[in-house]
Amino acid sequence: MVTQAHRPKISFNLKPLILLLCMGVAMNVKAAQRRLPVDEVKALKEIAAELGKKGWNFHVDPCSNDPSWETPTLKLGPKTYNNSILCNCTYPDGECHVVGLFLTGQDLSGVLPTSLVKLPHITKLELHRNYLTGTIPSAWTSLKLERLSTAVNKLSGRIPSYLGKITTLRFLSIENNRFSGTVPPELGKLVNLENLILNANFLTGELPVNLTYLTNLTELDLSFNRLEGNVPKFDDSAKLQRLYLTSNLLNGTVPDWIKRRDNHYDLDLSYNNFLESSMSPTNCRDTLNVFESFSRRDSSAGQCSKNLPCSKDWNSVHINCGGNEFSIGNIKYEADLDASGAAKFNPTTENWGFSSTGNFWDANSSSNDYIANNASVLRMNSHELYTSARLSPLSLTYYARCLANGNYTITLHFAEIIIRGNRSFYSLGRRIFDVYIQDKLELKDFDIENTTGGVDKALVKKVKAVVSNKVLHIRFHWAGKGTTNAPTRGTYGPLISAISIENDNPPDNVKTTIFIVTGALVLALLLILGILWWKGCIGSRISREKDLRGLDLQTGFFTYRQIKAATNNFDASNKIGEGGFGSVYKVFKNLILHA
Ligand SMILES: *[C@@H]1O[C@H](CO)[C@@H](O)[C@H](O)[C@H]1NC(C)=O
Ligand SMILES: *[C@@H]1O[C@H](CO)[C@@H](O)[C@H](O)[C@H]1NC(C)=O
Ligand SMILES: *[C@@H]1O[C@H](CO)[C@@H](O)[C@H](O)[C@H]1NC(C)=O
Ligand SMILES: *[C@@H]1O[C@H](CO)[C@@H](O)[C@H](O)[C@H]1NC(C)=O
Ligand SMILES: *[C@@H]1O[C@H](CO)[C@@H](O)[C@H](O)[C@H]1NC(C)=O
Ligand SMILES: *[C@@H]1O[C@H](CO)[C@@H](O)[C@H](O)[C@H]1NC(C)=O
Ligand SMILES: *[C@@H]1O[C@H](CO)[C@@H](O)[C@H](O)[C@H]1NC(C)=O
Ligand SMILES: *[C@@H]1O[C@H](CO)[C@@H](O)[C@H](O)[C@H]1NC(C)=O
Ligand SMILES: *[C@@H]1O[C@H](CO)[C@@H](O)[C@H](O)[C@H]1NC(C)=O
Ligand SMILES: *[C@@H]1O[C@H](CO)[C@@H](O)[C@H](O)[C@H]1NC(C)=O
Repeated sequence: MVTQAHRPKISFNLKPLILLLCMGVAMNVKAAQRRLPVDEVKALKEIAAELGKKGWNFHVDPCSNDPSWETPTLKLGPKTYNNSILCNCTYPDGECHVVGLFLTGQDLSGVLPTSLVKLPHITKLELHRNYLTGTIPSAWTSLKLERLSTAVNKLSGRIPSYLGKITTLRFLSIENNRFSGTVPPELGKLVNLENLILNANFLTGELPVNLTYLTNLTELDLSFNRLEGNVPKFDDSAKLQRLYLTSNLLNGTVPDWIKRRDNHYDLDLSYNNFLESSMSPTNCRDTLNVFESFSRRDSSAGQCSKNLPCSKDWNSVHINCGGNEFSIGNIKYEADLDASGAAKFNPTTENWGFSSTGNFWDANSSSNDYIANNASVLRMNSHELYTSARLSPLSLTYYARCLANGNYTITLHFAEIIIRGNRSFYSLGRRIFDVYIQDKLELKDFDIENTTGGVDKALVKKVKAVVSNKVLHIRFHWAGKGTTNAPTRGTYGPLISAISIENDNPPDNVKTTIFIVTGALVLALLLILGILWWKGCIGSRISREKDLRGLDLQTGFFTYRQIKAATNNFDASNKIGEGGFGSVYKVFKNLILHA
């Protein structure tokens, strides 16, 4: 039971039976009389109008546990849904009062209700995952709110400085909205605050020093904004345990108080512009994530070792990323069904494969996270290419090798199949990533939905590239932009549906030669194969290859030897830390390994 109408409890212990019965009846009558006063019922009507909330049944008392006022207990569907009112009916005035309101995941499309002030006893308000606009009303400063969440909505404007007057607040989350401007120093007056969560807005400027007065703060999340300058100096004794600063423009030194924290603290400084000289290898720790944290970005590759030998020069590769084999005309898109993982190198065939790095931030990764399937019916041509796609939380590199050198056209097929386009919080995610081909940035801050003007629409990008050493790299890279929590946690990062790689000038004679000499070739090949087999060459090579792939598929991760090679024997300079990630090493670029 979610709605808790706290009615007086009757103590039977030391009373004679008759007295007890009389009293029980009397108390029950009294309890049944306890209801929400008329003015609070009226306030709820006004609140419903402001929020755009429908479905409350005002013919019954809101504190009566009527289903319209509480989440059905066995509700199936997204866990994000909540529809509850919390009443306290033990006030000395003999009436019930609303002390909490939880309306989440409902796509309410109104505004934050000013009428909330007419519920003077309310302490908890959760309105996350709706479609609310506007800002936080100044009238709310008269309330004694302790918990306020308006995460994943469309609120905008500056963060109001008068929020600093609600000093009763212990939990404040406005993450994933459209707030802009600087973080107001007045928030430093919220001395009881334990969680301050402002991530994924459009906040700019320097962080106010007054935030360090929040001595009870245990979690501070400012990630995915455009904050710059220094991190304020928190006291060594501060309770701050989780500090998320990833993906900002912070450019000062890595503060000593951060370096002194031990492994009980989760500190994510990744994707910033900190001074590299302020961090030494001795400061590196598993729970201090400094991946891409510094202004001088060194994204150099891990050690590449020798490759499998090429059986021929290839002129094209077609991959149905995350999907089954599929043919369009005489072009066969190869299947790409490997479940992938947090650190996965998958040499699918002789001439192509992929490497994927990263755990989905702030979400428990499972192997389902790296392949997406369409949520709605897709109607574009060749929809088989788009019904599934490969995802990555950080970096995904497809490589082709054994290519004939020359000029190539790379065709990238995209469609946003996860974020939805309806008037719903499902539409509030922003997936933004970069695409590099042969290390050249070709698509920056690429947003599929924005480019196609909607979801479930196909987008084909053609890019030219030169292959000069038989190898082609296509890297999809999440540079910390967009949202990570909308519509649900872990929705972000590159998404790619299919890839074609084609030589602009395949040798003219390729096709005719194939037909004419097929017979002869087959014979010759059989002969050569026979001889080689007899000599045991291929036999042992194939089985060695099989062993390696078997190992990969079994573990779903790099083999120890692969990681060792890619990280230069776990060279500390290649270690990029943790913080929601597992141990992550810089291995994602130019990843062609061979144990
Ligand atoms: C609704 O939210 C309240 C407050 O967070 C929580 O106590 C309650 O369990 C939630 N109900 C459901 C069904 O999730
Ligand atoms: C309900 O209100 C009374 C009176 O203010 C208070 O003593 C009690 O702790 C409250 N109960 C809950 C569950 O908040
Ligand atoms: C910031 O803190 C100082 C005290 O160090 C105080 O004088 C000032 O008023 C605070 N600023 C705001 C905007 O609250
Ligand atoms: C901080 O937390 C402590 C212990 O949890 C509590 O006693 C105190 O009232 C809180 N508020 C401030 C301002 O320290
Ligand atoms: C950090 O950025 C700010 C604003 O962009 C600039 O004024 C300042 O000089 C930078 N500091 C360093 C150490 O680069
Ligand atoms: C991840 O899983 C752990 C243990 O199952 C759980 O305690 C934690 O809340 C989960 N975190 C998220 C973000 O789901
Ligand atoms: C995905 O798209 C295909 C092709 O349009 C369709 O048959 C299938 O039902 C879709 N899946 C879902 C879950 O809508
Ligand atoms: C590739 O294209 C460039 C012009 O972009 C041209 O100069 C060069 O000759 C081409 N190379 C081949 C092998 O076709
Ligand atoms: C939006 O799409 C989601 C996911 O398909 C669905 O659950 C939700 O009901 C839709 N909301 C509206 C308002 O259409
Ligand atoms: C794409 O983004 C730009 C800039 O943020 C915005 O003005 C435009 O409306 C967006 N277009 C679509 C189709 O979402």
